[in-house]
Amino acid sequence: MKILIYPDEILRGEAQAVRNIDGKFQRLIDDMIETMYSSRGIGLAANQIGELKQLAVIDVSPPEDGPHPIVLINPYITEFEGEEVEQEGCLSIPNYFAPVRRAARLEVVGYDRNGKEIRLEAEGLLARCIQHELDHLRGICFVDRLNPVRRALFRKKWAKIRPKKGKRPSGTD
Ligand code: NI
Repeated sequence: MKILIYPDEILRGEAQAVRNIDGKFQRLIDDMIETMYSSRGIGLAANQIGELKQLAVIDVSPPEDGPHPIVLINPYITEFEGEEVEQEGCLSIPNYFAPVRRAARLEVVGYDRNGKEIRLEAEGLLARCIQHELDHLRGICFVDRLNPVRRALFRKKWAKIRPKKGKRPSGTD
C-alpha cells in the first residue's frame, strides 16, 4: 500500500463514518496494519492510503513485544486532560519532526474490527498517537498545529526534503 505524501489533497479530506464492516473492509484493516509495520510507523489513518473512512490503526508497543495493533473505527474523544509538548512525525511527512502540544490523557470511544464498541483510556505516547491519527481523519496534519514561525520553517525545509513522486517514505507515524 502506498502512503500519500503531504500535501496530497486527500490528506485534507474529511473521513466518512464506516457503516458496514465487511470482508473488503477487513482486508483494508489488515493492509493498513501491514503497511504501518513495514513503514516502521506507530499509527496510520485511512486518509493516508487514500481512503476517506473513519479508520485508524495504532501500535505504540515496543517492537520486541511483538505486534499489538489497536484498530479504531469511527473514533471520537470524549475526555481530554492535561497538556504535553513532545516531538512528532508522520509517515506522510517523512524525515520531519517538530514539537506539538497535545492533551496528556484522554478517553476515546469507537469500534474495533469486529464492530464491538471500545472505550480506551490513554496517556503518553498512545494518547498523542490517537490525537494525531484522529486529526488525520478530520483532514488535519500535525504541521497544521505548529506555531506560525515553526510552520514557516517547515515549509522551507519541506521544499528541500520532500520525497519525489513514487518514492516510498520512511518515518515514524
Ligand atoms: Ni501522521
